[in-house]
Amino acid sequence: MNQLPYKNMKLSINERINDLISRMTIQEKIGQLCQIDGRIDYRTWIEQKHIGSFLHVYGELIDEIQECAARTRLGIPILFGIDAIHGHAFWPGATVFPTQLGLSCSWNPDLIRKMAEITAKEVSATGIHWTFSPVLCVTRDLRWGRVDETFGEDTFLIGELGKAMVEGYQGADFSSIDSILACAKHFAGYSETIGGRDATEADISKRKLLSGFLSQFETVVRAGCATVMIAYQVIDGIPCTINEWLNKKILKEEWGFDGIAITDWDNIGHMVTLQFVADTVEAATALAINAGTDMAMSTNDFPDAVRKCLDNGTVSIATIDEICKRILRVKFKLGLFDGKKISLDREKINRIVGSKEHREHAIHCSRETIVLLKNENNILPLGSTIKKIGVFGPNADNVDAQLGDWSFHPARIGEQATLHPRENIVTVLDGIKKRAGTSINVEYVRGCNIRSDEYDEISLATDIAKKCDVAVVVIGDDNSLNGERKDRASLDLTGQQLNLLQSIHRTGVPLIVVLINGKPLSIPWIKDNAAAILEGWNPGMNGGTAISEIIFGDVIPCGKLTVSFPYHVGQLPVYYNQLPGWHSSNYSDIPTGEPLFPFGFGLSYTTFFYSNLTVSRKKLKAGESCKIGVDITNTGKYDGIEIAQLYIRDIVSSVSTPIKQLKGFCRVHIKSGEKKRIEMNLAYNQLSLINSELKSVVEPGNFKVMIGGSSQDIDLLKTEIEVVV
Ligand code: NOJ
Repeated sequence: MNQLPYKNMKLSINERINDLISRMTIQEKIGQLCQIDGRIDYRTWIEQKHIGSFLHVYGELIDEIQECAARTRLGIPILFGIDAIHGHAFWPGATVFPTQLGLSCSWNPDLIRKMAEITAKEVSATGIHWTFSPVLCVTRDLRWGRVDETFGEDTFLIGELGKAMVEGYQGADFSSIDSILACAKHFAGYSETIGGRDATEADISKRKLLSGFLSQFETVVRAGCATVMIAYQVIDGIPCTINEWLNKKILKEEWGFDGIAITDWDNIGHMVTLQFVADTVEAATALAINAGTDMAMSTNDFPDAVRKCLDNGTVSIATIDEICKRILRVKFKLGLFDGKKISLDREKINRIVGSKEHREHAIHCSRETIVLLKNENNILPLGSTIKKIGVFGPNADNVDAQLGDWSFHPARIGEQATLHPRENIVTVLDGIKKRAGTSINVEYVRGCNIRSDEYDEISLATDIAKKCDVAVVVIGDDNSLNGERKDRASLDLTGQQLNLLQSIHRTGVPLIVVLINGKPLSIPWIKDNAAAILEGWNPGMNGGTAISEIIFGDVIPCGKLTVSFPYHVGQLPVYYNQLPGWHSSNYSDIPTGEPLFPFGFGLSYTTFFYSNLTVSRKKLKAGESCKIGVDITNTGKYDGIEIAQLYIRDIVSSVSTPIKQLKGFCRVHIKSGEKKRIEMNLAYNQLSLINSELKSVVEPGNFKVMIGGSSQDIDLLKTEIEVVV
């Protein structure tokens, strides 16, 4: 009867927030703005600092921390966050999907939405409310360590796939028991740091940011993404953490973002210790809060610093109240104050985490993410004449490389081998052996390691290869070459991998190269000499099943690249949508100026022929759109899926614009011999550019419209439309 208003479910969220905030002390309010690494002494942080959020906590500790918070004066529930980037992969036995880069090669928002729905179910069963995903960074310099975490190099595609992922995590309503908060990160321009060096300076103007690095964030924010993570790096000397233009004007005012803008790990401390734009945490805190930061991740001095800022007047209590309300609103919306999602659901964990149904979807994702890059004389799928297969290479049976980054909790280093039960994981070797059954003989020798030269079985592998009908060599990189603080200077194959390949190739046995890697590598020798190349990325727990299904033709490959492969690391950046104007088309010391494999490229076991390009309207005015139609005929002998891509080029514009820009895509299943007509919509607003006054405008004039199976000219049909005023 004496229920406090903020606990009363019959009142509106605003009424409940206003009541709660009127009861909170300053210290309690400050605590809501902090997220602390929960692997420390949580009790002191809750009882003395009133911390409102923890990260990197899982298991029984979740219940302990929640119970500790419930015993406090106001009993404000804790918000838990985790990096469930491609599945709830820090949880032993959870479903581990392909990494984001792999998933993006499906060009399939529905697939990704479902993957996120499953992840949300698994995360929420374990008492966690928030995943720091999706990554919306635009891959441009492939040396950067975090390429594997992205959806590739095109902002439009990133926006579409990111939106699907957010919808999957959050569902229609946060309060649903299966929904968690998404976090669009890293805001903004983080992937553009110079030299591929993680978290250094991003040399990027406002116009460039607006042109190619923000629209994907706008897409997900407008779709309701509840949180945004502020990037580490500086742009034009200003750390993103204190970039008021980005965090307040663009994000909150223009896009109407009303969720939580959280910093990345200790951004506020970094301003003092790494970026030197403030001499104390207190000074950095004032700058961050006044520029639009809502929550500080893992800056342990932050609570005391906020208190000092209030005392010395550099931050106002009105600002703290406003931020506190934003954070409490999210907690209310999640239902935490109503007893929802505040403990582990052990029954549900047993029933659904890593369930058969979830793992089935992981296989499905792996199937769609694999890209066939070469298939000379249709060597794949393997036919019935194959009786003996040699499987070689450091990634043929490598759980670490197959699962990829963010699959092993940092706190559990050393336990990596046991975190995910081995029996849950199907490596390429497992998959091939299982599929080969008793009718095909499979022999395996690792041959070499990814990095060190110590382990050398190249001659043994070569001797075995001589007796095989085909050699499947699984190479690439591993988690020591991908991830934070793991930027690369070279994109060549490491260790003895190339020697292994060349030695096996010299036997004359057909070489099928399977790449398991976090990012594109420069592999011109492989392109020239392998009979077939399959790009598997980090294909997740069941990747080996999907890869073997493709090798044997049970599944027809359909993935297409969302990132360009360089011929040589010195060719970077090699992304497809560059500005024109290079006085050459090549560097003088390498044979080609083209990427080794371009954006949008991917083969199938069948072939597709594009014809009869039409546009419904040749002249376009403001508010109008036109339909771009094309016939696609499956001219091969297998049914297959084609990913058709729509590009435009603004022929003459007030500022130089990219040679091609993706504006639409469409996945279509076409039976062998069948012709299907597809249509894609092109709206007037999609033809906009950011002009020299930083305004988004559509300029009159002609636009090239291109449609086809990849971004390379040879694959595109072309026509023109005109924008008229
Ligand atoms: C730092 C990473 O940059 C970010 O992506 C991640 O979410 C946080 N650490 C939390 O682990």
